[in-house]
Amino acid sequence: MLTMDDIVREGHPALREKTQEVPVPLSKEDKQILGDMLTFIKNSQDEELADKYNLRAGVGLAAPQLGIKKRMCAVHFEDFKGKLYSYGLVNPKIVSHSVEKAYLPSGEGCLSVDRNVEGYVPRYARITVKASDMEGNELKLRLRDFAAIVVQHEIDHLDGVMFYDHINQENPFAIPDNAKAIS
Ligand code: NI
Repeated sequence: MLTMDDIVREGHPALREKTQEVPVPLSKEDKQILGDMLTFIKNSQDEELADKYNLRAGVGLAAPQLGIKKRMCAVHFEDFKGKLYSYGLVNPKIVSHSVEKAYLPSGEGCLSVDRNVEGYVPRYARITVKASDMEGNELKLRLRDFAAIVVQHEIDHLDGVMFYDHINQENPFAIPDNAKAIS
């Protein structure tokens, strides 16, 4: 199983590199990696396991965070209404998005960032994502608000982008244009 020791941190070049499309259906190896990633995120939210293995709670993990240059990520979380989103995403792509943006008033965090970075991260409020799942099935997800934010954070990792790249450098708490706070 994956632990925090497997996750590369800020400063590691893998976090800044572009990743490659993954052949679908997944190879046995890729399937294993993506399955392990999803299990890690689930485990990180299990108090007992997190405590035992020293896991920091997260809602998503992207392959570059393991030093792997592939377009795969895993997400597992409930939105603010309690709806569960649990996916291994292969070659995810935003095919359309709203003009309106959204941000979390508390900012964002990342398992590869061991410090608190303050500021608003503007994201699209609504996105439609196409991807393959772990079994090679085509997925089309319509996501909004918190779910849209999480998946944009993970897709960014596949392009070498960190959440704080989006924060207004002069005024981290300036309300982004055309954006609503998600709470
Ligand atoms: Ni992250």
